[in-house]
Amino acid sequence: MQLHSTSIDSIAISNPKLYKDPKSSKESRIFPYYAGYSSEFSNNLLATLGLSQNSIIFDPWNGSGTTTRSAFTNGFDSIGFDLNPSMVLVAKARLLSPLEHPCLVAIAKSLVEQARIPTTSCNGSTSDPYDPLLKWFAACSAIPIRNLESKINNLLVSNNAYVKLDNNLAMDLVSPLAAFFYVSLFRTVRKLLIDFIPSNPTWVKHPKTKLNRKRTSPDSIFTAFIEEVKILISRESSFEATSRDSESSIKLQIGNAENITLHDSSVDAIISSPPYCTRIDYAVSTTIELAVIRCGQTEFDLLRRGLTGTSTVERTATPVDAKWGATCVNFLDALYSHPSKASKGYYFKNHLQYFASLSRSLSEISRVLKPGKLCFLVSQDSYYKEVHNDVPTITSEMANAFGLEIVRREDFKTSRSMVGVNLKSKKYLNSRSTTESVLCFQNN
Ligand SMILES: C[S@@+](CC[C@H](N)C(=O)[O-])C[C@H]1O[C@@H](n2cnc3c(N)ncnc32)[C@H](O)[C@@H]1O
Repeated sequence: MQLHSTSIDSIAISNPKLYKDPKSSKESRIFPYYAGYSSEFSNNLLATLGLSQNSIIFDPWNGSGTTTRSAFTNGFDSIGFDLNPSMVLVAKARLLSPLEHPCLVAIAKSLVEQARIPTTSCNGSTSDPYDPLLKWFAACSAIPIRNLESKINNLLVSNNAYVKLDNNLAMDLVSPLAAFFYVSLFRTVRKLLIDFIPSNPTWVKHPKTKLNRKRTSPDSIFTAFIEEVKILISRESSFEATSRDSESSIKLQIGNAENITLHDSSVDAIISSPPYCTRIDYAVSTTIELAVIRCGQTEFDLLRRGLTGTSTVERTATPVDAKWGATCVNFLDALYSHPSKASKGYYFKNHLQYFASLSRSLSEISRVLKPGKLCFLVSQDSYYKEVHNDVPTITSEMANAFGLEIVRREDFKTSRSMVGVNLKSKKYLNSRSTTESVLCFQNN
């Protein structure tokens, strides 16, 4: 077996938390993603892993694309999958070269000019009565946003008829430049909908009646869009020059960690962070972005149900599998026996689903990672009521069943966790902190 060439202890594992890295502060990120880790964390790993330059770095839960961005800046080939197409666009936008910056405002202005076709009045209707933007916007505002989105798609993606970005053939047509303008539009629409975003950033409210929908004028929408383009350009740290720009190959696609479309033993390192087990809904948190890319209700429901960590439950429960390890089985036992409402029903099923998905994904990770190579997973513990859900230990035991041996673990205490974001859970938590762990596995 080909073993890892560097001593595991000499690998630099820094605190993955975003707020520990000034470059990753909310103000310097291109997209307000709450679930990411810092570039400093993945850069430090890549700098000390001792990988050869032709190595392929993979992230099966790529989110906002921190791993693939770091691989790009450090000159490695990389692959990043995420089931959520709006996150694939964010990850792509982060690959835009700073050399493109001088032309971005001019392109934005040109897109706006072309989107400025006459719109109907607020009493009028959009051409598509099912446009998901109509959930929040009256037709007079939904139409100019949709026009802008159509222009980005027609001019920068398809060069002709609209292509829907819900499959990889279409996603492969999206350049970092096109993705940059999609992210600018995501940010514009998110700002316009600020009144519907509560303090929990993972939830988006809807207007109570059609009369409460937003009626922002086309001019204000277009001005806000150009403003967002300028703000993004100023986030220099998000678009640093790379060490070998033209040579790195980066594949960013819609993909399921439970069923990875890569060959056996095809990647050299994995740096990733599986979804947290805190019932934070990754689909709901991006409803706005998904609406911008025309994701209808049926597709949205399908995506939501497919995500690891979803807050939905399927009718038929997955059975507990002893292979998940003692810590997991004991936790599920304690959860099932908990006297609180719905413990035996919804919560038990929901956690079973999470662990079943995590287990299938770890099996896939072990299959695609070359023997002897390393996989780093950032994981966080949580609580069900007062019962400790030690996800990092559970992940280590589960992974072991697939030949992924834990060779190092670093724990970082945190008081700012996704548990804290879920306000209802605070009742049980008092001031209890949680731990973010970096798990390092070697594939045997
Ligand atoms: C913790 S976040 C990853 C954050 C990422 N490391 C970053 O820095 O932005 C987990 C991501 O997994 C994605 N996801 C959830 N279930 C998935 C699945 N079954 N396959 C692929 N991606 C999935 C979510 O959409 C979310 O973006």
